[in-house]
Amino acid sequence: MRTSRFCAAALVASFASAAPTAKRQSGLSPDGNYFPLPNGFPDSNRDGEITIQDGAHGTLPNGPPPTALSAEGVTNLKLIALNELFEVAFFTELIYNVTNKVSGYDLGMGHDYMLDSLNAIVNQEELHVLNANGALEHFNQEKIQPCKYNFPVTDFQSAIALAGTFTDVVLGTLQDVNQIFAKNQDDGLVRAVTSVVGNEAEQEGFFRLMQKKRPSSQPFLTTATRDFAFTAIQDFIIEGSCPNIGTIPLKRFKPLTVETKMIPAEDQNIKFSFYMKDAGMYDTNDMRLTYLNGQNQPIVKTFENVKMEGEKVFFEAPFPYDDFLMNGLTIAAVTMGAEEFENADKMAEAAVFGPGLIEVD
Ligand SMILES: *[C@@H]1O[C@H](CO)[C@@H](O)[C@H](O)[C@H]1NC(C)=O
Repeated sequence: MRTSRFCAAALVASFASAAPTAKRQSGLSPDGNYFPLPNGFPDSNRDGEITIQDGAHGTLPNGPPPTALSAEGVTNLKLIALNELFEVAFFTELIYNVTNKVSGYDLGMGHDYMLDSLNAIVNQEELHVLNANGALEHFNQEKIQPCKYNFPVTDFQSAIALAGTFTDVVLGTLQDVNQIFAKNQDDGLVRAVTSVVGNEAEQEGFFRLMQKKRPSSQPFLTTATRDFAFTAIQDFIIEGSCPNIGTIPLKRFKPLTVETKMIPAEDQNIKFSFYMKDAGMYDTNDMRLTYLNGQNQPIVKTFENVKMEGEKVFFEAPFPYDDFLMNGLTIAAVTMGAEEFENADKMAEAAVFGPGLIEVD
């Protein structure tokens, strides 16, 4: 039984229509407004919560919250809530598209296994939100409210690839969250957040399988910092639609576009761009392209072939795959000044543009 279900899932990839169609209005949410869900989420009553727990195949943690929460700990929980809310919107719409066999989302024979898996994922993400927002409420902090969203995908394969990428960003960011909890004596939250890391990593293995990749990408997953996630999430948010994102004291970088689309597992130059107007007073000679991959120190490269075209600055930077075996997620950022950074925190402090998200194998 298990084996045959597994095989059906592995086949899904080849049954999904890969042809991207032009971006159309979502049938689920023409105006980008996804909440409240039919179960009342994110303000579910007790019955709604029970329905979500059933769908998630598990309950919210029922132990007492820690006695105190630091200011940085509050920011951690707000970022988690902001992130998980957008994931709930995304997976709710993906389920809608697959259920209704929207053009590009007709999976043929893998259908039932896929819907069962996605339903578990969306309910589990809902509990992640309720847990973070519940803790915020307990400590008399504002709960993070949902925004309006728009997702840049119109077919199943791209949707799964996008889920794989944003889940990798989460897997990197929760490392930072745990590190910050530890530094601020918020150790009472580390166990639960680490259990969420495991849950998200199980999801990631599934998304990778759906893309015919090895389930596990690399031995030590790429780290990220909160600011990179905070910026990346806002790519899916309709500008100005978040009721209280302003209460999250994190930095939003200027956008960096990865122009090279297919990135094989080998040494090569990658092309990037950013808007000239965003560069302000900075000189491209003082800029470096810095990569984060695995648990290695940031890799700093100088710009090559800088070209101004229209409103944008295009440049290339070497991607040293062979030296570092840069599999899985790589986070790229344009940094100022330094030729080396001790760690991801120092890199993020010096970053102006980013994150450019690169996935290899
Ligand atoms: C669902 O399909 C619509 C219509 O193609 C598309 O606009 C939207 O981005 C899709 N959402 C997801 C999460 O795949």
